[in-house]
Amino acid sequence: MLVRKGTVIDVKTYISPSILSCDFGAMRQELISLTECGADMAHIDVMDGNFVPNITLGPCIVSALRGCTTLLFDVHLMIDEPIRYIEDFAKAGADLITFHLEAASDVGATIGKIAACGCKAGIAIKPGTPVEAVYPYLDRVDMVLVMTVEPGFGGQSYMADMEPKVAALRKKCPDLLIQVDGGINETTVKAAAQAGANVIVAGSYVFKAADRAAAIRTLREGARF
Ligand code: DX5
Ligand code: ZN
Repeated sequence: MLVRKGTVIDVKTYISPSILSCDFGAMRQELISLTECGADMAHIDVMDGNFVPNITLGPCIVSALRGCTTLLFDVHLMIDEPIRYIEDFAKAGADLITFHLEAASDVGATIGKIAACGCKAGIAIKPGTPVEAVYPYLDRVDMVLVMTVEPGFGGQSYMADMEPKVAALRKKCPDLLIQVDGGINETTVKAAAQAGANVIVAGSYVFKAADRAAAIRTLREGARF
Protein backbone atom coordinates (compact mmCIF):
# COMPACT_ATOMS: atom_id res chain seq x y z
CA MET A 1 0.00 0.00 0.00
CA LEU A 2 1.46 3.36 -1.00
CA VAL A 3 0.82 6.63 0.77
CA ARG A 4 1.38 10.20 -0.26
CA LYS A 5 0.75 13.13 2.07
CA GLY A 6 -1.47 11.09 4.34
CA THR A 7 -3.65 9.73 1.55
CA VAL A 8 -3.69 5.96 1.44
CA ILE A 9 -3.98 4.65 -2.09
CA ASP A 10 -5.64 1.32 -1.54
CA VAL A 11 -5.75 -0.30 -4.93
CA LYS A 12 -4.41 -3.65 -6.00
CA THR A 13 -3.01 -2.39 -9.28
CA TYR A 14 -1.28 0.91 -9.95
CA ILE A 15 -1.28 2.62 -13.32
CA SER A 16 1.85 4.67 -13.87
CA PRO A 17 1.92 6.48 -17.23
CA SER A 18 5.43 7.27 -18.44
CA ILE A 19 5.91 10.95 -19.15
CA LEU A 20 8.66 10.06 -21.63
CA SER A 21 5.90 10.18 -24.24
CA CYS A 22 4.38 13.47 -23.07
CA ASP A 23 4.79 16.92 -24.64
CA PHE A 24 8.08 18.03 -23.02
CA GLY A 25 7.24 21.63 -23.79
CA ALA A 26 4.14 21.44 -21.60
CA MET A 27 5.12 19.05 -18.84
CA ARG A 28 3.18 20.70 -16.02
CA GLN A 29 -0.05 20.59 -18.00
CA GLU A 30 0.69 16.98 -18.94
CA LEU A 31 1.09 16.06 -15.26
CA ILE A 32 -2.15 17.83 -14.41
CA SER A 33 -3.85 15.93 -17.23
CA LEU A 34 -2.61 12.59 -15.85
CA THR A 35 -3.94 13.50 -12.43
CA GLU A 36 -7.35 14.40 -13.85
CA CYS A 37 -7.42 11.26 -16.00
CA GLY A 38 -7.13 8.90 -13.05
CA ALA A 39 -3.48 7.79 -13.02
CA ASP A 40 -2.04 6.55 -9.70
CA MET A 41 1.55 7.56 -10.34
CA ALA A 42 3.68 9.41 -12.85
CA HIS A 43 6.54 7.31 -14.18
CA ILE A 44 9.56 9.54 -14.72
CA ASP A 45 12.32 8.10 -16.90
CA VAL A 46 15.78 9.43 -16.10
CA MET A 47 18.43 8.59 -18.70
CA ASP A 48 22.08 9.60 -18.66
CA GLY A 49 23.35 8.82 -22.16
CA ASN A 50 25.71 6.21 -20.69
CA PHE A 51 23.67 3.41 -19.17
CA VAL A 52 21.24 3.91 -22.04
CA PRO A 53 21.78 5.74 -25.34
CA ASN A 54 19.37 8.58 -24.57
CA ILE A 55 19.28 11.61 -22.26
CA THR A 56 16.14 12.91 -20.58
CA LEU A 57 15.89 14.95 -17.40
CA GLY A 58 17.31 15.47 -13.93
CA PRO A 59 16.24 16.39 -10.39
CA CYS A 60 15.57 20.06 -11.12
CA ILE A 61 12.83 19.11 -13.59
CA VAL A 62 11.32 16.68 -11.07
CA SER A 63 11.35 19.44 -8.49
CA ALA A 64 9.70 21.87 -10.90
CA LEU A 65 6.92 19.38 -11.55
CA ARG A 66 6.35 18.38 -7.93
CA GLY A 67 4.10 21.28 -7.09
CA CYS A 68 1.51 20.68 -9.80
CA THR A 69 0.27 17.23 -8.75
CA THR A 70 -0.22 14.92 -5.80
CA LEU A 71 0.46 11.86 -7.98
CA LEU A 72 3.12 9.55 -6.65
CA PHE A 73 6.38 10.16 -8.47
CA ASP A 74 7.75 6.84 -9.69
CA VAL A 75 11.30 7.67 -10.76
CA HIS A 76 13.02 5.11 -13.00
CA LEU A 77 16.75 5.76 -12.98
CA MET A 78 18.56 4.51 -16.07
CA ILE A 79 21.90 5.93 -15.02
CA ASP A 80 25.31 4.54 -14.07
CA GLU A 81 26.09 4.45 -10.35
CA PRO A 82 22.64 5.73 -9.33
CA ILE A 83 23.67 6.09 -5.67
CA ARG A 84 25.26 9.43 -6.61
CA TYR A 85 21.90 11.03 -7.37
CA ILE A 86 19.42 9.39 -5.02
CA GLU A 87 19.44 12.16 -2.45
CA ASP A 88 18.86 14.76 -5.17
CA PHE A 89 15.85 12.91 -6.57
CA ALA A 90 14.44 12.31 -3.10
CA LYS A 91 14.72 16.01 -2.28
CA ALA A 92 13.13 16.84 -5.62
CA GLY A 93 10.01 14.91 -4.63
CA ALA A 94 10.41 11.29 -5.72
CA ASP A 95 8.23 8.83 -3.80
CA LEU A 96 9.52 5.64 -5.33
CA ILE A 97 13.04 5.36 -6.75
CA THR A 98 13.94 2.44 -8.98
CA PHE A 99 17.49 1.81 -10.17
CA HIS A 100 19.02 -0.81 -12.43
CA LEU A 101 20.79 -3.74 -10.87
CA GLU A 102 23.18 -3.71 -13.85
CA ALA A 103 24.17 -0.08 -13.18
CA ALA A 104 25.02 -0.24 -9.47
CA SER A 105 28.36 -1.50 -8.17
CA ASP A 106 26.92 -1.78 -4.64
CA VAL A 107 23.27 -2.78 -4.88
CA GLY A 108 22.77 -3.13 -1.11
CA ALA A 109 24.16 0.33 -0.41
CA THR A 110 21.97 1.82 -3.15
CA ILE A 111 18.83 0.29 -1.63
CA GLY A 112 19.93 1.52 1.80
CA LYS A 113 20.44 5.04 0.49
CA ILE A 114 16.94 5.15 -1.03
CA ALA A 115 15.41 3.98 2.25
CA ALA A 116 17.50 6.45 4.25
CA CYS A 117 16.13 9.24 2.06
CA GLY A 118 12.58 8.21 2.95
CA CYS A 119 11.58 6.78 -0.43
CA LYS A 120 10.29 3.39 -1.49
CA ALA A 121 12.96 1.36 -3.26
CA GLY A 122 12.67 -0.48 -6.54
CA ILE A 123 15.19 -2.56 -8.42
CA ALA A 124 15.02 -2.98 -12.20
CA ILE A 125 16.36 -5.64 -14.53
CA LYS A 126 16.97 -5.42 -18.26
CA PRO A 127 15.62 -8.15 -20.56
CA GLY A 128 18.96 -9.98 -20.61
CA THR A 129 19.30 -10.16 -16.82
CA PRO A 130 17.99 -13.31 -15.15
CA VAL A 131 15.35 -12.80 -12.51
CA GLU A 132 17.41 -14.75 -9.98
CA ALA A 133 19.80 -11.79 -9.87
CA VAL A 134 17.32 -9.83 -7.73
CA TYR A 135 16.56 -12.66 -5.30
CA PRO A 136 19.22 -11.65 -2.76
CA TYR A 137 17.54 -8.24 -2.39
CA LEU A 138 13.86 -9.14 -2.29
CA ASP A 139 13.48 -8.66 1.44
CA ARG A 140 14.85 -5.11 1.17
CA VAL A 141 12.94 -3.67 -1.80
CA ASP A 142 9.34 -2.57 -2.23
CA MET A 143 9.21 -3.20 -5.96
CA VAL A 144 10.93 -5.07 -8.76
CA LEU A 145 10.73 -3.65 -12.28
CA VAL A 146 10.90 -6.29 -14.99
CA MET A 147 11.71 -4.41 -18.19
CA THR A 148 9.65 -5.65 -21.12
CA VAL A 149 11.76 -3.73 -23.68
CA GLU A 150 15.42 -2.73 -23.78
CA PRO A 151 15.56 0.49 -21.72
CA GLY A 152 16.20 3.74 -23.55
CA PHE A 153 13.22 4.60 -25.71
CA GLY A 154 9.45 4.63 -25.72
CA GLY A 155 7.34 3.06 -28.44
CA GLN A 156 9.06 -0.34 -28.63
CA SER A 157 7.36 -3.74 -28.83
CA TYR A 158 6.48 -5.70 -25.71
CA MET A 159 8.65 -8.77 -25.03
CA ALA A 160 6.27 -11.51 -23.92
CA ASP A 161 9.22 -13.72 -23.06
CA MET A 162 9.76 -11.60 -19.94
CA GLU A 163 6.51 -12.93 -18.42
CA PRO A 164 8.13 -16.00 -16.83
CA LYS A 165 10.33 -13.63 -14.79
CA VAL A 166 7.23 -11.84 -13.51
CA ALA A 167 5.55 -15.16 -12.73
CA ALA A 168 8.59 -16.45 -10.85
CA LEU A 169 8.71 -13.29 -8.73
CA ARG A 170 4.99 -13.40 -8.02
CA LYS A 171 5.24 -17.01 -6.92
CA LYS A 172 8.09 -16.17 -4.58
CA CYS A 173 6.62 -12.92 -3.21
CA PRO A 174 2.81 -12.65 -3.14
CA ASP A 175 2.92 -9.09 -1.74
CA LEU A 176 5.70 -7.57 -3.82
CA LEU A 177 5.02 -4.67 -6.16
CA ILE A 178 6.01 -5.95 -9.59
CA GLN A 179 6.28 -3.36 -12.31
CA VAL A 180 6.34 -3.92 -16.05
CA ASP A 181 7.60 -1.23 -18.37
CA GLY A 182 7.74 -1.18 -22.16
CA GLY A 183 5.22 -1.90 -24.90
CA ILE A 184 2.23 -2.02 -22.59
CA ASN A 185 -1.14 -1.51 -24.28
CA GLU A 186 -4.70 -2.80 -23.92
CA THR A 187 -3.63 -6.29 -25.07
CA THR A 188 -0.22 -6.78 -23.47
CA VAL A 189 -1.37 -5.46 -20.09
CA LYS A 190 -3.56 -8.54 -19.70
CA ALA A 191 -0.74 -11.01 -20.17
CA ALA A 192 1.60 -9.02 -17.93
CA ALA A 193 -0.99 -8.82 -15.16
CA GLN A 194 -1.87 -12.49 -15.50
CA ALA A 195 1.80 -13.28 -14.99
CA GLY A 196 1.65 -11.23 -11.78
CA ALA A 197 2.46 -7.60 -12.56
CA ASN A 198 0.60 -5.01 -10.48
CA VAL A 199 2.35 -1.75 -11.35
CA ILE A 200 1.69 -0.97 -14.98
CA VAL A 201 3.79 1.57 -16.87
CA ALA A 202 2.58 2.81 -20.24
CA GLY A 203 3.99 5.72 -22.20
CA SER A 204 2.90 5.90 -25.80
CA TYR A 205 -0.35 4.00 -25.18
CA VAL A 206 -1.59 6.67 -22.74
CA PHE A 207 -0.13 9.80 -24.30
CA LYS A 208 -1.09 8.97 -27.88
CA ALA A 209 -4.65 8.08 -26.88
CA ALA A 210 -7.38 10.50 -27.98
CA ASP A 211 -8.99 9.93 -24.55
CA ARG A 212 -6.36 9.44 -21.85
CA ALA A 213 -8.87 8.78 -19.09
CA ALA A 214 -10.35 5.96 -21.17
CA ALA A 215 -6.87 4.58 -21.89
CA ILE A 216 -6.05 4.52 -18.17
CA ARG A 217 -9.38 2.87 -17.40
CA THR A 218 -8.74 0.27 -20.09
CA LEU A 219 -5.35 -0.54 -18.59
CA ARG A 220 -6.86 -0.82 -15.12
CA GLU A 221 -9.60 -3.14 -16.35
CA GLY A 222 -7.15 -5.17 -18.43
CA ALA A 223 -4.91 -5.61 -15.41
CA ARG A 224 -7.82 -6.95 -13.38
CA PHE A 225 -8.34 -9.85 -15.87
C1 DX5 B 1 11.95 2.87 -21.68
C2 DX5 B 1 11.22 3.52 -20.54
C3 DX5 B 1 9.76 3.39 -20.56
C4 DX5 B 1 9.06 3.97 -21.76
C5 DX5 B 1 7.89 3.10 -22.06
O1 DX5 B 1 13.29 2.82 -21.36
O2 DX5 B 1 11.67 2.99 -19.31
O3 DX5 B 1 9.18 3.90 -19.35
O4 DX5 B 1 8.61 5.28 -21.59
O5 DX5 B 1 7.29 3.57 -23.21
P1 DX5 B 1 6.19 2.72 -24.00
O6 DX5 B 1 5.07 2.47 -23.06
O7 DX5 B 1 5.84 3.59 -25.13
O8 DX5 B 1 6.87 1.43 -24.41
ZN1 ZN C 1 10.63 3.51 -17.45
